[in-house]
Amino acid sequence: MPFLLPTATAVAATNPSSLFSSSPHCQSPSPALRLPPPPPAPPSRQLPRFPAVPFLPFSPRRGMASRAVSSAAAAAADVTHLTQRDAAEIDEQLMGPLGFSVDQLMELAGLSVAAAVAELESLAIPFLAVEDVPEDLSSEFDIVIDAMFGFSFHGTPGPPFDDLIQRLISLSVIGSSEKRPAIVSVDIPSGWHVEEGDVDGGGIRPDMLVSLTAPKLCAKKFTGPHHFLGGRFVPLPILSKYELQLPPYPGTSMCVRIGKAPSVDISSLRENYISPELLENQVMPDPFDQFVRWFDEAVSAGLREPNAMALTTVNKEGKPSSRMVLLKGVDKQGFVWYTNYGSRKAHDLSENHNAALLFYWNEMNRQVRVEGSVQKVPEEESEKYFHSRPRGSQLGAIVSKQSTVIAGREVLQQTYKELEQKYSDGSMIPKPEYWGGYRLTPTLFEFWQGQQSRLHDRYVSCINSFAIQAILWQSSECL
Ligand SMILES: Cc1cc2nc3c(=O)[nH]c(=O)nc-3n(C[C@H](O)[C@H](O)[C@H](O)COP(=O)(O)O)c2cc1C
Repeated sequence: MPFLLPTATAVAATNPSSLFSSSPHCQSPSPALRLPPPPPAPPSRQLPRFPAVPFLPFSPRRGMASRAVSSAAAAAADVTHLTQRDAAEIDEQLMGPLGFSVDQLMELAGLSVAAAVAELESLAIPFLAVEDVPEDLSSEFDIVIDAMFGFSFHGTPGPPFDDLIQRLISLSVIGSSEKRPAIVSVDIPSGWHVEEGDVDGGGIRPDMLVSLTAPKLCAKKFTGPHHFLGGRFVPLPILSKYELQLPPYPGTSMCVRIGKAPSVDISSLRENYISPELLENQVMPDPFDQFVRWFDEAVSAGLREPNAMALTTVNKEGKPSSRMVLLKGVDKQGFVWYTNYGSRKAHDLSENHNAALLFYWNEMNRQVRVEGSVQKVPEEESEKYFHSRPRGSQLGAIVSKQSTVIAGREVLQQTYKELEQKYSDGSMIPKPEYWGGYRLTPTLFEFWQGQQSRLHDRYVSCINSFAIQAILWQSSECL
């Protein structure tokens, strides 16, 4: 259950427990948890009152929204695993002249912890004092984060950590059929040997491990379904000095999945759409206007490529074919996109001018179908659009012989380079005659707004050349 991932990694990535352990021999808990160090030889079982404990139930819904954050999986075998000594040395160097100063790291850590705490508090997630943590954690929490000890820990955990670890261990042994919270360990499952792992086999068995900087050797013994790496701050000199093989972090992610992605039961994937109803009296009489309204709303909502649409063509044998294209213009004449006139879609359209467009705005639970007939746009219109594109895209259109097999990527790159050279003086790049636009003139629109429990509102508008012919209303159920 990766639900806690965004917060866990926000804490972990910029605030690795390993970075803040003052010496490889102290039993210091991760400062991300704001726990004071335990007394070295506890004389009694009296527990100090802690401001926070590592048991944080998380909201599944929120986590699901952030699932995409770190989906690029890397093979665990390709990733360097650190010994305790190397990990400690890297920490020292990170805090030395090579990387960050202690002040910077503390500031990063403080900021990320403060942000994580503020976010959790704004979600009404309670922070408990250690004595208020229930004895049995199995029923009240969805997820438990174990971030007590970093890689520098060794020896026998003292109070209150020994007791907390025991409670996590008892969770690990509950059968998989019974309800229990998932355990997420940060860097090292608390109580594990940094290099040997769970030596006597009686330790915490986390469902997820978030390694920091690079996985420590004990991570090889981790058998849970989710392994992530956080800590996108390792400078190049350290990477090369320790010959660290680390996976690339996708986009701006602060974490990346390593190891196998969990297998998913596709049939169990379902979202409950919660969105405003599409009421008849709110729909604009002209479907073009309704489309523009929804399109503008998709743009305002900041959706990525709201103009991406699936285009389905059908050849003369009746074989359909779909692909994505980008909408480049819409008005009462129709929907325009640009492509290569030698492509498969162009071939289909030359045989059969009927086609369908499909917009899907996932985040808004909306879909729009548009069906109609397609014609090439006038040459001047294609010319005008071609020259409005960035020069790189203009060259790309010349190079790309769409829907054909090429001898190799290098051929494409070489031709592109040659053209780049040829037009490096800034002279006009001529539009190739095999490139241009198409316009679909709609005969049917369907606006779909998802609702809860698979219900949805559908508004269909059929158009003939004179007027909107019929408006159908459906509120129906889909599978
Ligand atoms: C998001 C997205 C947008 C695309 N936009 C276009 C486009 O505007 N024009 C185009 O020719 N191909 C576009 N493509 C590539 C097409 O999907 C397709 O691979 C290509 O046009 C060849 O299709 P065909 O062989 O069926 O003709 C896009 C692909 C994606 C994923």
